[in-house]
Amino acid sequence: MAGDESIYCRRGFSVPMTFVLGIAGSPRRGGNSELLLDAALAGAAGEGAEVQKVVLSELSFSGCTSCNKCANGHDCVLQDDMEHVYSSLDRADVIILASPLYFEGLSSQMKAMIDRGQVYWVRKYVLRRQGKRRRGAMIAVGARLNADFTSALRPAKVWLLTMNADMDTLTFGGFEEKGSILDDPDALANARALGSRLVAEGRNLH
Ligand SMILES: Cc1cc2nc3c(=O)[nH]c(=O)nc-3n(C[C@H](O)[C@H](O)[C@H](O)COP(=O)(O)O)c2cc1C
Repeated sequence: MAGDESIYCRRGFSVPMTFVLGIAGSPRRGGNSELLLDAALAGAAGEGAEVQKVVLSELSFSGCTSCNKCANGHDCVLQDDMEHVYSSLDRADVIILASPLYFEGLSSQMKAMIDRGQVYWVRKYVLRRQGKRRRGAMIAVGARLNADFTSALRPAKVWLLTMNADMDTLTFGGFEEKGSILDDPDALANARALGSRLVAEGRNLH
C-alpha cells in the first residue's frame, strides 16, 4: 500500500487518492456559498477524497497585472498568497468554485483569482502544454429569486476549461441573508451529491 496518497481498491491494487480543492469566493465567512461549498467538500470526503478549502478573502493577493512574464512559460512572478493557491491548483483533480452573485457577476476575490489563471491559459493555449484532465463545478448564490447567473458562470467556465475541467453548476436564487440557504430543504443535499459525484467522475478520467 502506497501510504496516505492512495486508497486500496478491492482487487488489491492502489489508486491515487483524488484531491478536491474548494475555493470560497465570498468575503462573508459562513455565508450561503461557503455553506454549500462545505457540503460539497463533505460529499467529496465521503467518497474517500482528500479535500482542501481555500478562502480567498483570507488571502492577500492582487489580480493579474498583465506583466506578460508568464508568456514564456515562467511561473507567475507576483509574490503573494496566490503561490499557495497555485500549488493546490496544480495538484487538484477536482476544483469546486463557490461565489456569491455580485452585480450579476462574480465576487471581486473570485474574479481576481480567475484572472491570475492567465499563467495556465498561456501554458495551454500559447505553449500548447496539455495539463491533466480534471472535473470542475461552480456554485453560485444570489439574493434575487430570478437572479441571472450568466455573467458569473461564463468566466468560471472559461477558467475551468483552461484548467482542463468541464463545469457542473449549482445556482441558487432567493437567498440574501447569511445562512438563509439552510431554509432550502434540498440545497445542502444537492451540494453534497455534487461533491461525491465529481469525485467518482474524476476517478474515471485517469
Ligand atoms: C456587493 C453585493 C452585490 C450583490 N449583487 C447581487 C446581484 O447582482 N444579484 C443578486 O441576486 N444578489 C446580489 N447580492 C446578494 C448576494 O448575492 C447574496 O446575499 C448571497 O446570498 C451572498 O452569498 P454569501 O452568503 O455566500 O456571501 C449582492 C450582495 C452584495 C454584498
